[in-house]
Amino acid sequence: MESSRLLIEGGRRIEGEIQIHGAKNSVLPILAATLLCGDISSIHNCPGLSDAFAAMRILRSLGCEVSHEGSTVTVNSANAEGDIVSDGLMHEMRSSIVFLGAILGRVGRCRLSFPGGCELGPRPIDLHLEALRRLGVKITEDHGILDCTAGVRPTSADITLSLPSVGATENIMLYSALGSGETVIRNAAREPEISDLAGYLIKCGAEISGQGTSTLVINGVESLHGCEYSVMPDRIEAATYMGAAAITNGELMLKGVNPADMYSCMSVFSEMGCGVYPYDDKIFISARKPVSAVRTVRTMPYPGFPTDCQPIVMAVLAKSSGTSVIVENIFENRFMAAPELRRMGANIKAEGKVAVVEGVKKLYGAPVRAYDLRAGAALVVAALGAEGQTQVSNIHYIDRGYESIETTLSSVGANIKRV
Ligand code: EPZ
Repeated sequence: MESSRLLIEGGRRIEGEIQIHGAKNSVLPILAATLLCGDISSIHNCPGLSDAFAAMRILRSLGCEVSHEGSTVTVNSANAEGDIVSDGLMHEMRSSIVFLGAILGRVGRCRLSFPGGCELGPRPIDLHLEALRRLGVKITEDHGILDCTAGVRPTSADITLSLPSVGATENIMLYSALGSGETVIRNAAREPEISDLAGYLIKCGAEISGQGTSTLVINGVESLHGCEYSVMPDRIEAATYMGAAAITNGELMLKGVNPADMYSCMSVFSEMGCGVYPYDDKIFISARKPVSAVRTVRTMPYPGFPTDCQPIVMAVLAKSSGTSVIVENIFENRFMAAPELRRMGANIKAEGKVAVVEGVKKLYGAPVRAYDLRAGAALVVAALGAEGQTQVSNIHYIDRGYESIETTLSSVGANIKRV
């Protein structure tokens, strides 16, 4: 679908309510985890994303039966013996590296090609491999192929991550859930998606504690059984639509969200001058006046401001009064939206990990290109707040993380269509 594009006529207020979908960054590791129980699991609130469909293809290639009914995905991993993730499937989705821990935990062997870097930079997996080696896994890397074999597990392992990597934390959890021995992860990622993965594994019978804190303890168990589990709401999708309301001076009721996961996002929108009202499983945002600049936005591991929301907030701040500074501390190359926003009249200087955004009064529609998932979403947000027509191409990136973004946005007043 590389050739499809989004045509957006800006200047319309975003008003109404949106039901937020299940979280992409939670459903992927949970689908990988279904391998471990050798049983039937029903995963509810699955988002209809190309990345989720890619994960289902990987499960089928490993011998699982996977069926998909509405937003429920049912996986029967009883006959999963596969230990190879094909090159094609690995390149389709970089986050397929999270299958490594699950396949090793299930069949004791795994061969996969080094996940392609991605638009955000090399995205190494050294922390994943170091931790798995500490857990007795033999790993050889040869011509881009990883060949991993489970060895004798230590009765207890105490692993300190040099940075709170989400993927490395997930791979260690997945590999340690089955088997014997206690695994302690220090400086573990604290993202809500980690707690969601722990929630699924515990429902399958795993013994995990400390999820959501920096110290996770996993006691390996003999076996796991299937279960029914509902994926947490997508906090990044929710923040993206908050950006759409903010830049169009509209107002939105977001439903089916977990405000407790979103304090750092909500506070940035409040700092811009938006009214942000969280309650129960909803967030109401009202932006009746042009947003003002935010002095400094720093991306940090959770509970800090999420790097995935940084491009979206850059787009909103591009059309604001005043100067904002954005510091990207997580990924090397995550200002891909800046040059495209400049084509729309934004005044942004990005240098290394700092971007200075001089707010302008108006943005103008232009032909722009998505270079990664969240930069693509940022261009859609900017287009909604721009005068005239914007054409966003390469929207397959956007489809990885947003379920039919044009249908969702049209339902709250946007003039947007896929061509
Ligand atoms: C997850 O990626 C998310 N993806 C990302 O969302 C998100 O941006 C990221 O976490 C941070 O929150 C999924 O969950 C599928 P990391 P992940 O390991 O696991 C470096 C989106 O848009 N690092 O926490 O890859 C790495 O290079 C995506 O939905 C190492 O150096 O993130 C990066 O700079 C984008 N060595 C930083 O750590 C390692 O072994 C954070 O990476 C692992 C990571």
